[in-house]
Amino acid sequence: MIDSNLHQTPLFSALDEEAASALKQSMVPQTIKKGQTLFQEGDPGDRLYVVTEGKIKLSHASGDGRESLLMVLGPGDMFGELSLFDPGPRTATASAVTDSKVLGLGNTDLNPWLAGRPEVSKALLKALAHRLRRTNETMSDLVFADVPGRVAKALLELGEKFGTKTSDGLYVHHDLTQEELAQLVGASRETVNKALADFATRGWVKLETRSVEILDVERLSKRAR
Ligand code: CMP
Repeated sequence: MIDSNLHQTPLFSALDEEAASALKQSMVPQTIKKGQTLFQEGDPGDRLYVVTEGKIKLSHASGDGRESLLMVLGPGDMFGELSLFDPGPRTATASAVTDSKVLGLGNTDLNPWLAGRPEVSKALLKALAHRLRRTNETMSDLVFADVPGRVAKALLELGEKFGTKTSDGLYVHHDLTQEELAQLVGASRETVNKALADFATRGWVKLETRSVEILDVERLSKRAR
C-alpha cells in the first residue's frame, strides 16, 4: 500500500496500486533535518525526489547573495526533475524547513518506467506544464501586482497546501520565518510585514509565529487578484 499523498504525485498518479508499490520499492528514502540542505543550486543532479513528510523549500540565490524562494513543498510534491530530464546543474537549492523525509529516484531507475509506461511520461509532462504555467503567473505578478496582492496570493497558496479548516477559517502552519515569507513574495521584509499587519487590522488574518489563520478567504482572494 502506498499512502494517499503519494497517489497524488504525478509520478504515481497514473499507476495502479501494484505498479505504484513497485515504483516505490525502487526509490531511496532519505531524512533531512530542519535547516539541512539536500542539494545546492549548481550541483550536478540525476535524481528526482518526492516529499513524503515535512516541508522543503526551493531557493535561488542572486549574484549578490540575496535569496528568493521559488516554492515551499509538502507531502506529495515532486522536485529535482529538471536536471534529470535535462542533464545539467541543479537550478535551485533544496533545504528542509522542518524535519522532512523524501524518496529519491535516480535516472536509471526512472527510465524503464518512462519507456514501459507512457502514462507515467504523460503525467510528468503534465506536471512540468503546470509548473511552467505557475512560473508565468508568478513572473506576471512580480511585474503587475503590488506587494500586498502578492502577499495575499502567497498566503492563499500556502493555505491550499498546508491549511487546515477551523471554525473561524483556515489555519496555515507554514513554518516560514518573516524573512522567508518576504523571499517567497519577492519583496523586503518591512513591506511584507506592513501588508500582513494591514490584513490583520482589517480582520482578514490572525498572525502567529510561523503560522497564520486566514479569517476571510474571500476578501484575501479579492486582494490577490
Ligand atoms: P532541478 O533543477 O533538478 O533542482 C531544483 C529543482 O527545483 C528543479 O529541478 C525543479 O524541480 C524545482 N524548480 C526549479 N524552478 C522552479 C520553479 N520556478 N517553481 C517550482 N519549482 C522549481
